[in-house]
Amino acid sequence: MEERDAYIRAGEITRMIKEKVPAMVRNGTTYLELARFVEGTIVEQGAHPAFPVNISVNNISAHDTPTIDDVRTFKDGDYVKVDIGAQIDGFIADTAMTVKVGENDDDLIKASKDALEAAIEMVRPGVRTNEIGGAIEEAIRGYGFRPIENLSGHGLEQYVCHSSPTIPNYDTGQGVALREGDIIAIEPFATDGIGKVMDADEHLIFKYVADRPVRLDLARKVLGTIKRNYNTLPFAERWLSEIYTKRKTEFALKYLVRSSSIYAFAVLKEANNGNVSQSEHSMFVTSDGAEVFT
Ligand code: CO
Repeated sequence: MEERDAYIRAGEITRMIKEKVPAMVRNGTTYLELARFVEGTIVEQGAHPAFPVNISVNNISAHDTPTIDDVRTFKDGDYVKVDIGAQIDGFIADTAMTVKVGENDDDLIKASKDALEAAIEMVRPGVRTNEIGGAIEEAIRGYGFRPIENLSGHGLEQYVCHSSPTIPNYDTGQGVALREGDIIAIEPFATDGIGKVMDADEHLIFKYVADRPVRLDLARKVLGTIKRNYNTLPFAERWLSEIYTKRKTEFALKYLVRSSSIYAFAVLKEANNGNVSQSEHSMFVTSDGAEVFT
């Protein structure tokens, strides 16, 4: 498939999934049911997950995804952020939405949504990334909330989820000019907290880094599976647990992190435990502006 067609098809799949997410995110639904629906649909439609679906609730801002035996459920009033990546031949559509369980109308969600729209309006060749960040910040502050300063949008490249340019969620004072042909994802996060995220203790998403000497037989086998199945893209502990069992997977992943063969993404939480909403779209930068494909 041509590069452009692959992005567009991957984007269509994510759009279809997003349409069905609000009906699924209800009081009592398990995180695991939602994850299986999102990732299962991606595969059913002929693509692959570009990363494990991130299901991050309330003050948890990103990088959460269920384990194989996860029993967590959504509760009324939860802010459920669903960040979805689908890829075809490594060409990635990256998109996210926030649903408040049991409610349709919420200012925190509107803040990140409006910020994303304002940012998309600004996209054209020559616009600087910090100007886009400024528009995001202004929209979010207009609702009385703060943008999360240490999370940002990014470029998309084949088999690379986060490449340059970085697109900040506030005006950093300096940035780079967008160019025609850039492929970018913009993802404002709004919070009623302090506007920063920090690492939590859990690590549920990983990615391959490099070949290092691995003496443990099981770890070597797991590393082979990682390279074959996920290439350089992020993967979930849950995916490997389905192959190797949870106990063996946890053991092998610890070993591989220690040997720097793989990298562990920490779950990210809002530094003041504020609630967080997120909106994200992927787009081509064209001479006329943004062509959104998610
Ligand atoms: Co993204």
